[in-house]
Amino acid sequence: PRHYAIVPAAGSGARFGAEKPKQYLDLLGRPLIFHTLAALTAHPAIERVWVVLAPDDPWWPRHDWSELGPKLETVRCGGATRAESVGNGLQAAAMAAADDDWILVHDAARPCLSRPMLDALCDELADDPVGGLLAVPVADTLKRADANQRVAATEPRDGLWQAQTPQMFRYGRLVEALSKHNAVTDEAGAIEALGLKPKLVRGDSTNLKVTFPADLALAAMILRGRK
Ligand code: C5P
Repeated sequence: PRHYAIVPAAGSGARFGAEKPKQYLDLLGRPLIFHTLAALTAHPAIERVWVVLAPDDPWWPRHDWSELGPKLETVRCGGATRAESVGNGLQAAAMAAADDDWILVHDAARPCLSRPMLDALCDELADDPVGGLLAVPVADTLKRADANQRVAATEPRDGLWQAQTPQMFRYGRLVEALSKHNAVTDEAGAIEALGLKPKLVRGDSTNLKVTFPADLALAAMILRGRK
């Protein structure tokens, strides 16, 4: 089977509160999403990368992406939710992908994805019947809040993991899962709703999702430290 990637990049970044979506904020002299895409296009197993943009995204054309090479394809079919954007990206991939090809779905907002993380995911899932995702065990103690923001309970964190991306599933099954189960916040959620059990592949906390301003400074430190 072949490997393809879909990068949903049609979010507005409301929680970040910047003047433009977070995927276009400057990170070491490049738009944040440049780093995200570079990690994927540089991987030899990944044959093509579809970036799903909002139909009216005015920022993408203002940058030069030629350095990322011929694997990159943009599709302007972002939807109202992440799941919808991914579903639309899967439709665009239909001309290339066969049912048993692997699709890696990766957040535009995770620019610190690295080659070793991608290798771990692809290697550990190579013969897996279901597929899976990068994830890290929860490190903090977890509190459940009541309506007054007081602690109602301390939740045992044993066996709890934080889901990251990429999430890697077979093309045909992912299309089926997302067409049946659209109210999910990640692809694994849709696969689970089919009654399947995605594999948790241990990732790394440096694969952070840029959500708030402090995350951007942290991402810059992480990337600079690798050079
Ligand atoms: O908002 P959040 O950080 O959870 O978004 C995760 C990813 O999904 C981001 O890369 C964002 O651009 C993308 N997204 C999308 N379409 C939406 C909402 C989010 O492609 N409608």
